[in-house]
Amino acid sequence: MRLIARKPDAVLGLATGSTPLSTYTALVERAHAEALDLSEVRGFALDEYLGLQPGHPESYRAVITREVVEPLGLTAANIHTPDASPETIETAGDAYERAIIAAGGVDLQILGIGTDGHVGFNEPGSSFASLTRVKTLTEQTRRDNARYFESLDAVPMHCITQGLGTIRRARHLVLLAFGAAKAAAIAAAVEGPVTASQPGSVIQLHPHTTVLVDEDAAADLVNADYYRHAWANRPAWQQL
Ligand code: F6R
Repeated sequence: MRLIARKPDAVLGLATGSTPLSTYTALVERAHAEALDLSEVRGFALDEYLGLQPGHPESYRAVITREVVEPLGLTAANIHTPDASPETIETAGDAYERAIIAAGGVDLQILGIGTDGHVGFNEPGSSFASLTRVKTLTEQTRRDNARYFESLDAVPMHCITQGLGTIRRARHLVLLAFGAAKAAAIAAAVEGPVTASQPGSVIQLHPHTTVLVDEDAAADLVNADYYRHAWANRPAWQQL
């Protein structure tokens, strides 16, 4: 909120999935409480499925419209999702990168994490230098996301996603994770070796990352007591 108050046309990086929903709801409440106009805010979604009909309710364009643009009162034309049209898919990644650069880069990137450690849809093995491109989803990710579709077979096999290199360029990363299913991925991202086998570990290369987790998602963190201590004793100026 302070970012938007300071910069009304701030550029947000928007994750989809279930994790950020409570954050988006909190943003709506704060915006209403503080009578903040969000109509100039700009945004770039992390990813989009390939192979869904335009307007499919589970396409991330539709999800972002339903769960972010409409409740927050954002301006639809300011919010971008990667273009998954088959006709232009070979150049869609470059076009998305250019659009992010033309917007001045992402100020605050909201991230979730997959149970297999992916951020965006950068599955294990994704290069830390990767830019927006087409990826193949792992079977684990397809199974995890089958809850949104009629069947596992209906879950797309491919997606277009911001790369880890794209994500690294954002000025501030906020990684959210809730629930025991994310504990291993969070421990690997925060405390494990920096390795493409755990794409979430890219956060360790970023100068300004905030990780927000609940107790269940934090359960495997070896240094959890230190993080609690640091949080309890954080300097007054240190806010999100
Ligand atoms: C979604 C995205 C993914 C999700 C991740 C977690 O845009 O990029 O990385 O954040 O799959 O999904 P949920 O939050 O549904 O557990």
